[in-house]
Amino acid sequence: MNLLDSFGRKHTYLRISVTDRCNFRCVYCLPEHGVKWTSKSDILSYEEIAHIVHVFAQLGIQKLRLTGGEPTMRADICTLVASLCQIQGVREVNMTTNGYTLPKMAQPLYDAGLRKLNISLDTLDKELFHKMSRGFSIGPVLDGIEKALSLGFVLKINAVMLKGINEQSILPLLDFCALRNIELRFIEYMPFDVRWHQCVTSTEIQTYISKRYTLSPLSSDSLSGPSQTYWVSEKKMKVGFISPLSNRFCSSCNRLRLSCKGELRTCLAHEEAPSLGALLRNNATDREIKYQIQKQVLGKKEGHFCEVESGTPFQGVMTQIGG
Ligand code: 5AD
Ligand code: SF4
Repeated sequence: MNLLDSFGRKHTYLRISVTDRCNFRCVYCLPEHGVKWTSKSDILSYEEIAHIVHVFAQLGIQKLRLTGGEPTMRADICTLVASLCQIQGVREVNMTTNGYTLPKMAQPLYDAGLRKLNISLDTLDKELFHKMSRGFSIGPVLDGIEKALSLGFVLKINAVMLKGINEQSILPLLDFCALRNIELRFIEYMPFDVRWHQCVTSTEIQTYISKRYTLSPLSSDSLSGPSQTYWVSEKKMKVGFISPLSNRFCSSCNRLRLSCKGELRTCLAHEEAPSLGALLRNNATDREIKYQIQKQVLGKKEGHFCEVESGTPFQGVMTQIGG
């Protein structure tokens, strides 16, 4: 069965925020003094997540990404990974993490069936890292990356570049990833509700890198998602650009999002109701949940109206929705 929307987009990919909690407070993601965390009783249990994913898999979802907040903040996350890997129709379960807990968690995550990790790393400069994460040290993240590589994980590094803050980290990040055969991806900063920072656009980063290296576009395939990928011949590495603002990829969007409270978001930009979690807790049948998913996907809007310096910001809290 296919989850098609009214613009003919087929949805095969579900991102799940397993918790809105995070150990870090990255300057572009969480406010300095934190947010009010979603109360534990409102957060979907592992049984509830697995139940909802089971229904999604029957509707054609094949690929999952666990995200947050920081997914490894959730106790016993490996149990969830292992149970999701067992669901018929689910081909891949991946995770996005800030990497801080990987020195300990990489092995159990691998044992649970996880093979691909996206690690957020916006700079290699110790002091800047401390400043951008609001108080954390980079050491465990770097150790976690080495540990994950040694176990055979396929890694990608996600970096968000902010004007006047971490642009000087572009070339060091390229060097770091080239040495370790890791794909580096630059993600444009998306403002949620308020534009706190200024985004460095993909074109600006490409222009900067091109002064030093040759960037040759690679043909995009369905696996690279919204990323435009280039080959850096001098470094023999791939670098990707995810440009939600400067080069909207809404027309090829194949993703849905499940918030930590069980709300289905068909688009980062628009809030929707009702919550699938609430339906489940009100004893809805799988048929009713399926119907609700199909209805929401059919009503998915064409896209967003957020631009680099203007337009309408995205709605909601990134950590609850799962970036
Ligand atoms: N804009 C762009 N990327 C963001 N991330 C978190 N907040 C934002 C934002 N406002 C990134 C994180 C992580 C991924 C899940 O999303 O760095 O790599
Ligand atoms: Fe946590 Fe990731 Fe947000 Fe940073 S970007 S505060 S690591 S959820």
